[in-house]
Amino acid sequence: MPQQVDFLVVGSGIAGLTFANKAAKYGTVLVLTKKRKADSNTNYAQGGIAAVFGRDDKPEYHIEDTVKAGEGLCHKRAVRTMVHDGPGLVNELHAMGCRFSVDANGRFDLGQEGGHSRRRIVHAKDHTGQEIERVLLEETKKTDVTISENEIALDLVIRDGECLGVYYLDADTRRIGLVHANATILATGGIGQIYQHTTNPAIATGDGIAMAYRIGAKVANMEFVQFHPTAVFNIKIDGRSFLISEAIRGEGGVLKTKDGVPFMDNYDSAGNLAPRDVVARACLNEMMRTDSRYVLLDVSHLPADFIKNRFPTIYETCLSWGIDITREPIPVVPAAHYLCGGILVNEWAESSIPRLYALGECGCTGVHGANRLASNSLLEALVFAARAADKMKKVTGAKFGKPVKIKQTAKTGPNLLFQIKEIMDRYVGLIRTDEGLQIAKANVDRFRRLFDNGIHIINAESRNTVVVAQLVIDSALERKESRGLHYMADYPTKRQAYSRDTIKQSQGGT
Ligand code: FAD
Ligand code: SIN
Repeated sequence: MPQQVDFLVVGSGIAGLTFANKAAKYGTVLVLTKKRKADSNTNYAQGGIAAVFGRDDKPEYHIEDTVKAGEGLCHKRAVRTMVHDGPGLVNELHAMGCRFSVDANGRFDLGQEGGHSRRRIVHAKDHTGQEIERVLLEETKKTDVTISENEIALDLVIRDGECLGVYYLDADTRRIGLVHANATILATGGIGQIYQHTTNPAIATGDGIAMAYRIGAKVANMEFVQFHPTAVFNIKIDGRSFLISEAIRGEGGVLKTKDGVPFMDNYDSAGNLAPRDVVARACLNEMMRTDSRYVLLDVSHLPADFIKNRFPTIYETCLSWGIDITREPIPVVPAAHYLCGGILVNEWAESSIPRLYALGECGCTGVHGANRLASNSLLEALVFAARAADKMKKVTGAKFGKPVKIKQTAKTGPNLLFQIKEIMDRYVGLIRTDEGLQIAKANVDRFRRLFDNGIHIINAESRNTVVVAQLVIDSALERKESRGLHYMADYPTKRQAYSRDTIKQSQGGT
């Protein structure tokens, strides 16, 4: 593996791979990824990617829907950029061989999801992410991009205020290495694994955000954690809860209480297609009201052939657990799904630290504001990765100085993942209170003190989840209002004074 490259990418989901494939024409690219190439949130995306293709649609409508969901915090210029650049890049994916579902005329078969005023979800049945990941990985074979699996980025190298690469752990040899780069691009995905119930796979431990925060990069809006309303109750695969796509409600699926009574019309005029935060809180409320551990999602009134053809992954996975969704409702619960905040970046993915970039779910361009519209995250990752790559032709000439001596002695931290999850589920979930957040803070602060400074190779992910949990809790405590995904029982309304991003920045070296 090269020890010095022009562009070093951490992460091989849609953001990292899109960037890598496009930046390859400007210099050498190395992608480090902590497990296998396709282990990413991207690979599990179901619903699709939002883009304006419908005859009755316009960019203004998509912008309007996105900004409405974001409840006053969307960075509007970034939203406009995302919506305008999106369709071209989706067409590019299609041209690369991405098998998006099309109608009899060869036009995209557009799906419908909550908060969208028009049909605009381009999808590959219900396995859109897997299909995107597949073509992007195929595409890297046509470039000189090097992808190195089982390499866990541990910490960023910072010298004279600039980011010059990463320290990483080779998970096979257990040795620490250092890669220098003119530009370091974090594309490490989300933080779902800080919760017990999450749709995210095991890789989603917020590593990039923790690493960037440790060297003093600005991190924004960490309180806005999105809970998806419909993950299958009480069944987990490899530590994640299985998602039932919102697209299924877009095709007529209905949420019901455990006794079979539809309830979404009591909460929002958009019914089952209300914004995700509204639906998730409604589910929780109905669970408490009916003293049940789940609600039901019913598609059994739709034609069985349609369900099997349009949602094959969901149909087959549920069937493997003994639930035939063409005949019976699915028990579902809300689960942590997506982070709207992250490393604060501009529209070229530049962070507040020179030579450090952040893309996709670990970055915060501000397009989602206080609440992400369904299927806007694949779009955001795609658009801003492409823009960042364009910028790379001018990124050269870092001064690396003498190679830094790396201590080979492993620092050992405790494995606190289980405790973190328990605290986050209990106190930092869909409905928060000052008192609960303070309890969570006291616990997580105590955990934080168990990790000293320096490079940790044992339980590195656990160390990162502590940092990320602390950021979510501190940001939530600061926002004394309810807005979008952040609902505080003590302050149930939106307040003008909080119409701004929550920014956190360490002094470096934490
Ligand atoms: P990821 O795809 O998560 O990739 C992160 C990469 O970083 C991985 O390769 C990982 O191994 C690597 N990595 C992490 N830490 C390290 C480290 N320390 N060292 C080395 N490598 C590291 N969004 C939509 O828009 N539409 C959908 O339909 C949709 N459905 C979803 C369904 C599910 C079940 C889930 C979980 C999410 C869904 N999302 C959807 C959200 C969307 O999939 C993600 O936001 C998006 O894929 C994130 O892409 P990414 O490239 O930023 O990160
Ligand atoms: C889903 O398919 O419901 C997930 C879509 C998303 O997270 O954008």
